[in-house]
Amino acid sequence: MTLTNLIKTRVSQKTYLDQEVQRSLIEELLDTSLYVPNHKMREPWRFIIIDGKQKEVLKTRYLEQLPKDHVEDIEKQIDKIFKAPTIIAFLMPLSLDYDDEIEDLQANAMLIQNFLLLANEKGLSTHLKTPLFIKTDLFKSILGVNPREIVSALVMVGYADKNSAAKRRTPAAELLSYYK
Ligand SMILES: Cc1cc2nc3c(=O)[nH]c(=O)nc-3n(C[C@H](O)[C@H](O)[C@H](O)COP(=O)(O)O)c2cc1C
Repeated sequence: MTLTNLIKTRVSQKTYLDQEVQRSLIEELLDTSLYVPNHKMREPWRFIIIDGKQKEVLKTRYLEQLPKDHVEDIEKQIDKIFKAPTIIAFLMPLSLDYDDEIEDLQANAMLIQNFLLLANEKGLSTHLKTPLFIKTDLFKSILGVNPREIVSALVMVGYADKNSAAKRRTPAAELLSYYK
């Protein structure tokens, strides 16, 4: 597929086949994804991969420490995300400088989009999610994230159980103007 087709056929996939994704493939895709612009070569990222039985381990550890009245809601959210065979937490170090942090978020976003497109090229489907719980100290500590890092996104990865068409976008022609 051409890059144009890879961009236009990428869609957020909610449900997946019960088929594992090779760790070596995920590692290869991440390794390519990180060739993105990043200011001063800060390389502001690292990754935690949750797959196989570790999804259940993480869920149990998290739910048993949650206040009882949050368990039902969070369990529903986790179950939806953990339907995918592999989940990648994209992490970003927090900076002391707000402008640096915005730049680092932009670099992270580019890296993640690279990953989504490379996954599409390999016949994998993905869904990027940012549920509120990823910002909590409890979830971060259970996942093994440092207090001076954020989870910029969780990305579900797997083989789609059905094909979906891309959602329509407003054409660029309707959004652009030439500076006069
Ligand atoms: C930063 C960011 C956060 C997102 N968070 C969520 C989320 O928490 N839950 C969700 O279902 N989708 C989430 N999405 C996916 C968008 O809803 C989805 O990309 C959008 O509806 C367009 O659909 P498409 O990806 O199929 O083109 C997020 C996307 C981005 C870029």
